[in-house]
Amino acid sequence: MDKARLTLDPAFAIGAVDRRLFGSFVEHMGRCVYTGIFEPGHPAADTDGLRTDVLELVRELGVTLVRYPGGNFVSNYRWEDGVGPVGDRPRRLDLAWRSLESNAFGLNEFMRWAELAGVEPMMAVNLGTRGIVEAAELVEYCNLPDGTAAADLRRKHGVARPHDIRLWCLGNEMDGPWQIGSMTALEYGRLAARAGHAMKRVDPTIQLVACGSSKADMPTFAGWEATVLEQTYDHVDYLSLHSYYDPESQDEASFRAAAVNLDGFIDDIVATADHVRAKLRRQKRINLALDEWNVWYQSRFTEPEDRPIEDTPALIEDDYTATDAMVVGNLLISMLRHADRVTVGAQAQLVNIIAPIRTTPGGPAWRQTIFHPFAHTARLAHGTVLRVAVQSPTMPTGRYGEVPVVDAVATLDERTGRLAVFAVNRGTEAVPLDLDLRAFPGLRPGQWIRLAEDDPSIGNTAAAPDRVRPRTEEMPALDGGRATVLLPPVSWHALSFTPEEKP
Ligand code: AHR
Repeated sequence: MDKARLTLDPAFAIGAVDRRLFGSFVEHMGRCVYTGIFEPGHPAADTDGLRTDVLELVRELGVTLVRYPGGNFVSNYRWEDGVGPVGDRPRRLDLAWRSLESNAFGLNEFMRWAELAGVEPMMAVNLGTRGIVEAAELVEYCNLPDGTAAADLRRKHGVARPHDIRLWCLGNEMDGPWQIGSMTALEYGRLAARAGHAMKRVDPTIQLVACGSSKADMPTFAGWEATVLEQTYDHVDYLSLHSYYDPESQDEASFRAAAVNLDGFIDDIVATADHVRAKLRRQKRINLALDEWNVWYQSRFTEPEDRPIEDTPALIEDDYTATDAMVVGNLLISMLRHADRVTVGAQAQLVNIIAPIRTTPGGPAWRQTIFHPFAHTARLAHGTVLRVAVQSPTMPTGRYGEVPVVDAVATLDERTGRLAVFAVNRGTEAVPLDLDLRAFPGLRPGQWIRLAEDDPSIGNTAAAPDRVRPRTEEMPALDGGRATVLLPPVSWHALSFTPEEKP
């Protein structure tokens, strides 16, 4: 049996773990909001209709930031529809998903939910059907204390203190022909620069995210990023990228190695952003916001044109397997590996829509398989990300050729001294893994959390919500700073080590 080996050293620092990496996404789509986080009349709903059972799971998941209100939805959304007395709010046809939007839930409800969930909001403005004025007025409504029309309107709506939202998306996937109001890179770059300029005039402390490519294989990829950044460089702080992985549109080994694709996508965007920086002779570096990512069985998706108009349809409620959970854990490893440049993340989405949390209307909320690697990574990844030297057997993939079977990253929390190693076995054979921690004298084995199923195609259901869940294993003792653990096929692991207690 071929072995893998990881060598760690505190000197191999990549960058600080930005806690914004552990973000998620709530879109007005399907049942994410309605019967997801918000369900008046549900036995677990509070007086505002917010599901407290879902809130509990969101806190357990360890989400730090939530992007809202879309997604494709935002590109035809009027934020004014979702504020003020609920009885006065219009019922609209949402063109993104061809769904009926009651507007019973809007900005102020979301902000109350975000406060209860303990998450930072990441707000998107509509640059599809709207523009500079509406975007600037939304910042004014949210962030100015009083004395202007929009700030006073918020106060009239019962919200005295400004929401003080720091992070803003300048539209969504504006490169995608499916987007309402999609544009060329030059058109979007010019609009985003002007909208961003106006928004920062309202509140110069906000941070802005320009739209990058909706996926790595967009025909406009890289040229889009270069043109958009040439137009917006001085106004924006982040460039977004989105990346979904479909288990059914590629060979199985390539899907299991999806993080190879994400690694390359990120590297290419960093190179493009730094090319523009050099060309414009700027000091500032643009960091990346991976503000939509996940496993998504996209080949099962029915286009909006082919569906009837409905109220709260059950859209893209994918059921995840143990393999999908391993892939999600590996995508998080890739994000951490790029912690020097990817500093915002948002898994898409949070509830029901391709989500770690699933709800039954009127019934329980439960954890999908992908909940677990996210929750444990968010809980354990603190401090500094360390590059891990990996020697691993390889496996063939249709898309990426030979790739290492074992992939890993580590974090060192200088405050507690805890070292956390995140690792996956992407192959179909068990692999013994030698850990070389000789550069960390004084560490002792802590917890080994492992997600591995004999049949990795199984998942959780409302009837069996805990069928796939992580198990805690006995960690072998360190012998001269070395230990060996066995990684079962298609498995995800978090191994933590803590400082020896001083006598
Ligand atoms: O997350 C589902 C959709 O995927 C989002 O609305 C859109 O931005 C992306 O294409």
